[in-house]
Amino acid sequence: MPEKKDQNQTPPAKLWGGRFAEKTAASVEAFTASIHYDSRLYRHDIAGSRAHARMLARQELISHNELGLILGGLDEIEQEIDQGVFVFRPELEDIHMNIEKTLVEKIGPAGAKLHTARSRNDQIALDIRLYLREVSGQLEGLLINLQTAFVKLARKYLGAVMPGYTHLQRAQPLLISHHMLAYFEMFGRDRQRLVDGLKRINVLPLGAAALAGTGLPIDREFVARELDFLSVSANSMDSVADRDFAVEFVSTCTLIQIHLSRFSEELVLWASEEFSFVNLADSFCTGSSIMPQKKNPDIPELIRGKSARVTGNLMALITLLKGLPMTYNRDLQEDKEPIFDTVDTVTQSLAIMAELLDNTEFNTGRLEEATIGGYMTATDLADYLVRKNIPFRKAHEIVGRTVAYCIQKEKELAELELAELRQFSDQIEEDVFPVLSVQGSVNSRTSAGGTSAIRVAEALAVAENSLDFTP
Ligand code: ARG
Repeated sequence: MPEKKDQNQTPPAKLWGGRFAEKTAASVEAFTASIHYDSRLYRHDIAGSRAHARMLARQELISHNELGLILGGLDEIEQEIDQGVFVFRPELEDIHMNIEKTLVEKIGPAGAKLHTARSRNDQIALDIRLYLREVSGQLEGLLINLQTAFVKLARKYLGAVMPGYTHLQRAQPLLISHHMLAYFEMFGRDRQRLVDGLKRINVLPLGAAALAGTGLPIDREFVARELDFLSVSANSMDSVADRDFAVEFVSTCTLIQIHLSRFSEELVLWASEEFSFVNLADSFCTGSSIMPQKKNPDIPELIRGKSARVTGNLMALITLLKGLPMTYNRDLQEDKEPIFDTVDTVTQSLAIMAELLDNTEFNTGRLEEATIGGYMTATDLADYLVRKNIPFRKAHEIVGRTVAYCIQKEKELAELELAELRQFSDQIEEDVFPVLSVQGSVNSRTSAGGTSAIRVAEALAVAENSLDFTP
């Protein structure tokens, strides 16, 4: 039976129910509800409502008595949710209506005034911004922890050598610390990206109402100050349609996860019998259900695997926006799960990687051994000839022929006699031998950002300083 509507009738079950003659189908309620995941935004939603209510009172759109009731009701609701006793109702769709409806039930008509000059469209845009602002700060903290773990390893192994690779072929010897500090830089840029994104997250969308603004005398600047936003959005339509800031955030997270994944790949290789460059603590590995001898690097494997989810989330968000006409469309409700999953995945991965690093040891003996063989000081020999005024291309060719000779004789460059070396260039003298040693090679790379012990010690000090870390 369609409900008959008049002024005295009990309010409709749905906050938007006035226009509807029929009850929403149960299947539709189930399909449209987002409360099972957006309940995560309750603190942000309530913070936004408090600021909005204060503004309404200041503008005399509600009385001070009503403001008191609203704030008291919101506090109670927040506590109930904190304590896990609040009952979320899927038929109320989302976090906004679950809170608002409960508020009305608790405090009566004053509660029904909270949504004055506000729409769920600007409300959800606000909630996501508040949420992303908070988690950006948390992720930055986790990035700092991870950078600290890299710096600790760089300090611990200062002076120890390892092979450096291009194309996964042995290229030139370098310091383990240099390799660790490369990751310090990568995660440092991720921190910068998170901080930079805050400029665009910290813009207040509230006050756009549904899409066109409101005729009621609101004060958006006041709300922005209450919520610590740097500015108010300039265009009401853009305010409710924009999710660029979320795409940027997830894209930054994708880079973080990709950086983690690249390092994970190295750990997986390094932990293999073939490399044996690192030893991961037993407590950070798992075994095989059939092969008793196995010790598997599951943590880096899973981090590498989880980069697929995060990348997928970025694709989901971008695709979600493609083809959306102005302004708010219900499609936008689909932004939350990829955002939340990204935050959860990156949070877990950053935390466990930092722990794993604290439980990783480099096999310095094996790493040093690996720098011998593979003619990794060939470039040093070419540079030596350049110092003797031989053009680099010519020097490259001379050393190429020398290496071919070494392969034929099954000798390392450093094992050749001076006379053998001089077959290829009479510019080669006794002083070539330090150049052909691994330490000599490493320490010759004194260019800014190079791997010599001097440059790496400087870089490490800068890194430790920036983290306020004392070894
Ligand atoms: N749950 C919605 C979302 O996440 C909130 C906004 C809904 N607005 C609307 N007019 N139905 O996007």
